[in-house]
Amino acid sequence: MLDLDKKYDELIDNLISNVPFKPEIGLVLGSGLGEFAEKTKIIKTIPTNELIGYPESTVEGHKGFIHFAEVNNKKLMIYQGRIHPYEGYNISECVLPIFIAYKLGVNKIILTNAAGGLNHLQPADLMLITSMISFNIKKQLGELIGLASTQARNNFFNFPSNRINDIIRNAALKEEVVLKEGVYWYSQGPSYETPAEIRMVHKLGGDAVGMSTVHEAIFASALGMEIGAISCITNYAAGISANKLNHQEVMETAELVKEKFEKLIKEIIQLM
Ligand code: HPA
Repeated sequence: MLDLDKKYDELIDNLISNVPFKPEIGLVLGSGLGEFAEKTKIIKTIPTNELIGYPESTVEGHKGFIHFAEVNNKKLMIYQGRIHPYEGYNISECVLPIFIAYKLGVNKIILTNAAGGLNHLQPADLMLITSMISFNIKKQLGELIGLASTQARNNFFNFPSNRINDIIRNAALKEEVVLKEGVYWYSQGPSYETPAEIRMVHKLGGDAVGMSTVHEAIFASALGMEIGAISCITNYAAGISANKLNHQEVMETAELVKEKFEKLIKEIIQLM
């Protein structure tokens, strides 16, 4: 991690002197889900373009804001906007939000994303991520964090965190939000998958496909943080319906699930 310490030294020092409180929980809002931030008591917002060296978020629906906010008196750090490998950033840039959260003392993180669904999943479903398939990104992360170290390997056993997953299930029950469960398949992008690739994902055990989250999850768990992750299924994965995939559909479906997503996340935070 020394590389990151050196690379982002100034950015993190600046941020530490500007934060209004020490956050307990981190929340990363995925495509189209950013509006949740407006449902919280925002104490301070830091636009990421004011942070020297912070990569620019280039995707529609991803604002570049870090909010310091409260929900039911819990202190949160909320990323409205994330950095994806498919935008051309390298992995040390993509994990910066998690690294910053770690440096500020966050040890629990909820990651959210938009994903294409297959198997038992349909657009507008929320899916608790029970496991992730991500062969294609581990090597780069391994170089960054030494995934081969015993500590990183041990932390991997609880990834995502069973404790947080139980909290998420309980929150869904309490709020009467239907929450499906499944395995998230990391797709490198930048294009959506082909129907043939989705048939492969189906055969190999994936239930939802997306281009984010795993790098953050792996990095956070290697740092010893507890993570939980939720996908908002915004579209059928390629080839499952006759429709052509597009980012507009992703944004429109995310808009439809807004209410149940907000209820669920608020309750999760309450229970964490
Ligand atoms: N594939 C990959 N990423 C996605 C999708 C998809 O179908 N939907 C939203 N993000």
